Amino acid sequence: MRQGYWLLLSIRSMVTATSPHQPQAIVTGASSGIGLYTTAALIKRGWTVVMAVRDPAKGEKAINALGLDRRSVTVLPLDLSDLRCVRAFAQAIAAGSAPLDALVCNAAVYMPTLKAPLFSPQGYELSMATNHLGHFLLIQLLLDKLARDGGSGKGSGGVQKRLVVLGTVTANSKELGGKIPIPAPADLGNLAGFADGFQAPITMANGKAFKPGKAYKDSKLCNMITVTELHRRFHGQTGVVFSSLYPGCVADSPLFRHSFKVFQKVFPWFQKTITGGYVSQPMAGERVADVVSGKAFSTSGVHWSWGNRQRRGRQQFIQELSEQGRDPTMARRLWELSTRLVSNGVATPSVESKARG
Ligand SMILES: NC(=O)c1ccc[n+]([C@@H]2O[C@H](COP(=O)([O-])OP(=O)(O)OC[C@H]3O[C@@H](n4cnc5c(N)ncnc54)[C@H](OP(=O)(O)O)[C@@H]3O)[C@@H](O)[C@H]2O)c1
Repeated sequence: MRQGYWLLLSIRSMVTATSPHQPQAIVTGASSGIGLYTTAALIKRGWTVVMAVRDPAKGEKAINALGLDRRSVTVLPLDLSDLRCVRAFAQAIAAGSAPLDALVCNAAVYMPTLKAPLFSPQGYELSMATNHLGHFLLIQLLLDKLARDGGSGKGSGGVQKRLVVLGTVTANSKELGGKIPIPAPADLGNLAGFADGFQAPITMANGKAFKPGKAYKDSKLCNMITVTELHRRFHGQTGVVFSSLYPGCVADSPLFRHSFKVFQKVFPWFQKTITGGYVSQPMAGERVADVVSGKAFSTSGVHWSWGNRQRRGRQQFIQELSEQGRDPTMARRLWELSTRLVSNGVATPSVESKARG
């Protein structure tokens, strides 16, 4: 009820803040880290941004801390772990008259030290529920609005409409970071855990024993596979560009706040001085904003990376995904099972009717 009231007020102010030529993006998890700096970088590029955040007060504080132009941002509440909140948010956005030119699926939780699984209000393991299922439903519910231009893929001011998802190196066994077996590499198996309803005691996509670090990696693999399937199903008919990216190792972002304290101290140092992989939060934000708005990033269905060793002026490249990440049968099955899980007794979202596959 409170969320609905807030959404209504904020959507009203959002409409007046947006000019017809100014493109608008939604960035999930924009109250800290990469999402916050993506917001700042998009505003610099002339965009307005809806900061879709779990804690609006934290979002407001972050706007003040970075001195963001208030006329260019709207803070809206979105708890991705709760599918009811995702529906309320998407309904409010879909009903509003403000444009939607890009959706950036950035929010995530990483809880590698959990001793026992946590569950979402719908009974799904929390990192998969937040990182994959919440975004999956959000995408399904907002795709119609994103694609509402007759299939040209052109948005406000002529921008190329895009849907961008944050992936990661540790969920891609094609890269060194994805081969590290601590606690285990990302592996969705044959998605038996999803097929069996993904309710306790099931906590992992493959139906096997709970490993919190792997739950995060699995969820990020689902994020990257979702992009390949979105591209296959919808790019041709909508013109929307679908892509994922690894922005580099942002070793001092709040993502690691649930890791061991010693890890939080050592990891940034290690990435800065040993691997040379460290990327700052502002740099990562610029990279995401490039993927959202740069001409060089207009290829759909790909995963962008800047590699693991950072050098001045390092250029982006298309990074191949693991076998599971690019397996079309896996992608189709993930799509179908995820649709079933997010429907959870609710009618299938309208976007399904457009699906080709
Ligand atoms: N840091 C890295 O090295 C790295 C590398 C590769 C990919 N990534 C990806 O980059 C993205 C951003 O991570 P980050 O490093 O910027 O970490 P972060 O600062 O912790 O950002 C994560 C954001 O997600 C939000 N969030 C968490 N649970 C949520 C929920 N239930 N509903 C809505 N929002 C929720 C957090 O909000 P609260 O502040 O309210 O918790 C926070 O704003 C993630 O997808 C991550 O997987 C990060």
